[in-house]
Amino acid sequence: MAARVLLTGGTGYIGSHTYVALVEAGYHVVLLDDFSNSSPDVLNQLEIITGVPTRFHRADVSDANAIRPIFAAYDFDAVVHCAARKSVPQSLARPKMFFDANIASLLALMRVMAGHGVKTMVYSSSATVYGQPESLPIPEHAPLSYTSPYGLSKIMGEQFLNQQVRTSAGWVVGTLRYFNPAGAHPSALIGEAPVHDGGNLMPLIAKVARGVVPALDIYGHDYGTPDGTGIRDYVHVCDLAQGHVQSLDRLLRHRRSHTLNLGRGSGYSVLEVVKAYEAASGCRIPYRLLPRRPGDVAASFADPTMAARVIGFCATRDLHDMCRSSWAWETARQSDLQGALISPPYRPLGLIAAAPSVIVTPIARPS
Ligand code: WQD
Repeated sequence: MAARVLLTGGTGYIGSHTYVALVEAGYHVVLLDDFSNSSPDVLNQLEIITGVPTRFHRADVSDANAIRPIFAAYDFDAVVHCAARKSVPQSLARPKMFFDANIASLLALMRVMAGHGVKTMVYSSSATVYGQPESLPIPEHAPLSYTSPYGLSKIMGEQFLNQQVRTSAGWVVGTLRYFNPAGAHPSALIGEAPVHDGGNLMPLIAKVARGVVPALDIYGHDYGTPDGTGIRDYVHVCDLAQGHVQSLDRLLRHRRSHTLNLGRGSGYSVLEVVKAYEAASGCRIPYRLLPRRPGDVAASFADPTMAARVIGFCATRDLHDMCRSSWAWETARQSDLQGALISPPYRPLGLIAAAPSVIVTPIARPS
């Protein structure tokens, strides 16, 4: 009988793509979300993509009294826990909200899981647990540190789960440290559409391409990187989703825990992402260069060899795939907004018309 899985944060960016991958892998998945950073519309899109009705419960995962009946109603074999807040800048502004959202919810979920004999979890962690890395690429045994409350909340979550595995017989956890998820499902029916702007690069570039904002603010151009802008390991969200399936398969089959980097193992700078997005969208991306953003590190990219060895993870999609699928999702969403066309609708290449107030400081692009 197919394993039954509770997927928290199931209508969010990572959760919705992970849902599709889990269903396509044959899992029976129940979705849980409180729509604090996603839209109910995602449920319809998931039914179109998968061809099966969704089983969904609206609840705050930190409310044990709300989720206990869900566990009583289904005989879950595992939980994939994606519900969390993930914006570094937001965590600096509102640290308590992050600890409530990321720690209190995890502890409540663990209590209810234990109460129903559910001892398998795939846990959404983050490369942000490495803080300012000492060397690159980053292996899983690299020292942990944090530059934001978000990073601290993820380190604490990992430690609580490690303690649970050490002290409670039968528990296994797959901790997945995401690097920088980007892109969208090839159907263009789901993608990154945060209700609250998390400050992530690609959705903001997309807003500039769509003409929603006049220019991209690039935070820091004096890092010790080839073009001075920050370098990150962007990984297609569909590759990341597949990593969750591979992690869950291994947990259920081998009953051994793992902590793995989900990244491509190489990095792109902000300016390289801007250039790739211009090529994929055919739109000019005006930008202005601003000082560094608090909490940012200069460069971060994964050593993904352990993920390949332990679960067979392999990110096959490249930066162009991420930009192209992001743009397809953004333009599909834009047309769905009917009449909400932003003026000017798009900036075709060569017709740059940066708003007069924007000071565009083009600098030599890396060749
Ligand atoms: C990327 C680069 C910015 C916005 C993310 C997630 C976090 C975690 C780790 C999953 C940096 C620059 C950005 C902008 C810019 N992932 N930038 N202008 O900070 O690496 O963290 O990955 O858990 O949840 O947030 O990602 O997209 O915010 O920034 O110049 O308007 O783009 O300085 O160099 P980050 P990001």
